[in-house]
Amino acid sequence: MQVINLFCSSGFLIAFIIITITLFLLKSRRPYGSPPGPRILPFLGNLTILLKGNLIEISEKLKATYGNLFSLSLGGKWIVFINGNEHLREVFVKHAEFFSDRPKVFFIDKVLQNKGVTAQNGHVWKTHRKFMETVLHNLGFEKNSMKSTILEETQHFLSVISDSNGEPINVSYPTYAAVSNIICSIAFGRRFDYNDVEFQKFISVMYELLSNQNIPVINLLPILQYLPGDIFGAKRILQQTHWLKKEFKRFIAEHKDTIDTENSRDFIDEYIIEKGKNACLTDDDFPIAVFELFGAGTDTISNTITWSVLYLLKNPDIQNRMRDEMLCAIPTDRLPTMADKLNLPFCEAVIAETQRLANVLPFAIPHEVTEDVMIGQYKIVKGSHVIPNLSSVQHDEELFANHLKFDPLRFIDKQGKFYGQERIVPFSLGKRVCPGESLARMELFLFITAIVKKFRILPEEEGIFPSSQGQLGIAYKPNPFKVRFIEWN
Ligand code: HEM
Ligand SMILES: *[C@@H]1O[C@H](CO)[C@@H](O)[C@H](O)[C@H]1NC(C)=O
Ligand SMILES: *[C@@H]1O[C@H](CO)[C@@H](O)[C@H](O)[C@H]1NC(C)=O
Ligand SMILES: *[C@@H]1O[C@H](CO)[C@@H](O)[C@H](O)[C@H]1NC(C)=O
Repeated sequence: MQVINLFCSSGFLIAFIIITITLFLLKSRRPYGSPPGPRILPFLGNLTILLKGNLIEISEKLKATYGNLFSLSLGGKWIVFINGNEHLREVFVKHAEFFSDRPKVFFIDKVLQNKGVTAQNGHVWKTHRKFMETVLHNLGFEKNSMKSTILEETQHFLSVISDSNGEPINVSYPTYAAVSNIICSIAFGRRFDYNDVEFQKFISVMYELLSNQNIPVINLLPILQYLPGDIFGAKRILQQTHWLKKEFKRFIAEHKDTIDTENSRDFIDEYIIEKGKNACLTDDDFPIAVFELFGAGTDTISNTITWSVLYLLKNPDIQNRMRDEMLCAIPTDRLPTMADKLNLPFCEAVIAETQRLANVLPFAIPHEVTEDVMIGQYKIVKGSHVIPNLSSVQHDEELFANHLKFDPLRFIDKQGKFYGQERIVPFSLGKRVCPGESLARMELFLFITAIVKKFRILPEEEGIFPSSQGQLGIAYKPNPFKVRFIEWN
C-alpha cells in the first residue's frame, strides 16, 4: 500500500515507468528457437493503445506480421499465441499433458485466488473439476430438473420483453438477469424476481466486474495493477470480488444451517456434503467455487444470446425461416423444448453460426506450459503463457468462406440436416475444455428459439442498425444497443 502511495506524484510515476521499461528490456531476450515476434515490446511505444485496452487490434497486427505462432515478452514472461486448427490441436490435445496448467495471471491469482476449478492445477484441479461435472450432470439429468428450470426462467424473461410493448429495450439487461438466475437455481436452489433490489445490486456488480475491459490487459501486464490512482481499476475489481465473496459466504452459512444431507438441494449442499469426504475441497475454495459458476456461466451465455439478437435483427429473413421451421414442428402455442431440437435443424444452425461469428471467449483462458515442448520448428519454453486464439478457427477463411457473413446455412447439409458443429471450438479443446458446455447449449437453444417464436425483432429506428463490433472484457460483448420486440399473434 505504501509503495503505491509513493507513486502518487508524477516524478515517481516517470521513475516507475523507466524502471519498468528497463526490466522489460533486460528480460526480453528471445530464447533460442522460440516463435518469432516483435523484438522489443510494441507496447512500450504504444502505451496509448494499451491504455485504451484495444488488445484485439494490437494482436491482429502481430498475427499479420508474424504468422500463426508468435511470442512476446511482457513483464518478464513469454507469451505465446497459438493460431489455426492444426496448431491448436497439436498443442492443446496432442500435447495436453504439458499445456493444461494455468499461469498465475491477475484474474486467476487475485480474483479467483488460485481456488476452484479454473485457477488450479494438477490433482486439486482434477478433483474440483470432477466435482463440478458431477453436480452439473446430476442437476441436469438425473433429476431432470435443469430443463424445467430453464424453461421456467424463459417464461419470466419473455414476460419482461412482452412488457416492453414494442418500445425499444436494452436486451442485455433482462438476458443477464435471466441467465444469472439459472446459476442462482443451480448454486442456491432458488431464483430471484428481476425487480428484487438485492438481486439487481448483485448482478450489476457481477456484470461490471466481468465486463471490465482492463482484465485481459492486466493479465498480460500485471504491473499495471499497481499504477497510482488505480488507472486500470484493479483495486475496484478486487473490492467487487471481495463483496461478491461476502455475499456467497452468506448463502453458504444459510445452507449450513438448513441442510438435509439426505436431500441435497443445490450446488452448495453438494459441496457441503462432499467437503466432509474430500480433503481437496476446502472452506477457502468454497465461495470461489460458487463465484466461478457465475463468472463462467453468466457472461458467456448472456453475451451469446445478445449477439444472436443482434445478428437476427440484421437478418429478418433468417428470423422468418426459424419461425417457419418452429411453426411446422410445433404447431401449437407452446415454446420449444429440448425434445424438439432434432426437428429444428435450422434453429440449431443459427445458434452454431452465432457462436462461430461472435466468439465470446476469443482467447479462452490463458494456459501455461510445464516443459520445453517443440511445436513444428519452434520451441515453447517451460513457464511460457500460452494463449489459444479460438477465433482463428471460427474465422478461418478456408473453413468458412466469407467468414464475417452471418450465414447459418454453413451448418446445414444437402438433406437439410444440421451438420458440422465440430468445425468450431467455442468451448475450447483439450483437458480444459469447458465443463459447462451441455448446460450452455441447453440455455442457448431454449432462450433463442423462445425469443424468435414469440417476437419479431426490429431495430430501434427503421433502417438503422447497431454495429457488429464489440468490446472484450472477460467475454466479447456487443456494444450496447436497443431493439423492439413485436409480439406475434
Ligand atoms: C456459451 C457459453 C460458454 C462458452 C462459450 C464457454 C467457453 C469456455 C472456454 C473457451 C473455456 C476455456 C477453456 C480453456 O482454458 O482452454 C471455458 C472454461 C470453463 N467454463 Fe465455460 N463456456 C460457456 C459456459 C459455461 C457454463 C454455463 C459454465 C458452468 C456453469 C462454464 C464453466 C466453465 C469452467 C469452470 C471453466 C474452466 C475449466 C477448467 O479450467 O478446467 N462455462 N469455457
Ligand atoms: C506503435 O507506434 C508507432 C510509432 O510510435 C507506430 O508507427 C506503430 O504503428 C504503432 N503500432 C501499433 C500496433 O499501432
Ligand atoms: C486471432 O485470430 C483472428 C482470426 O483469424 C485474427 O484476425 C487475429 O489476428 C488473431 N489474433 C491473435 C492474437 O493471434
Ligand atoms: C444496457 O444494459 C447494460 C447492463 O445493465 C448497460 O451496461 C448498458 O449500458 C445498457 N445499454 C443501453 C443502450 O442502455
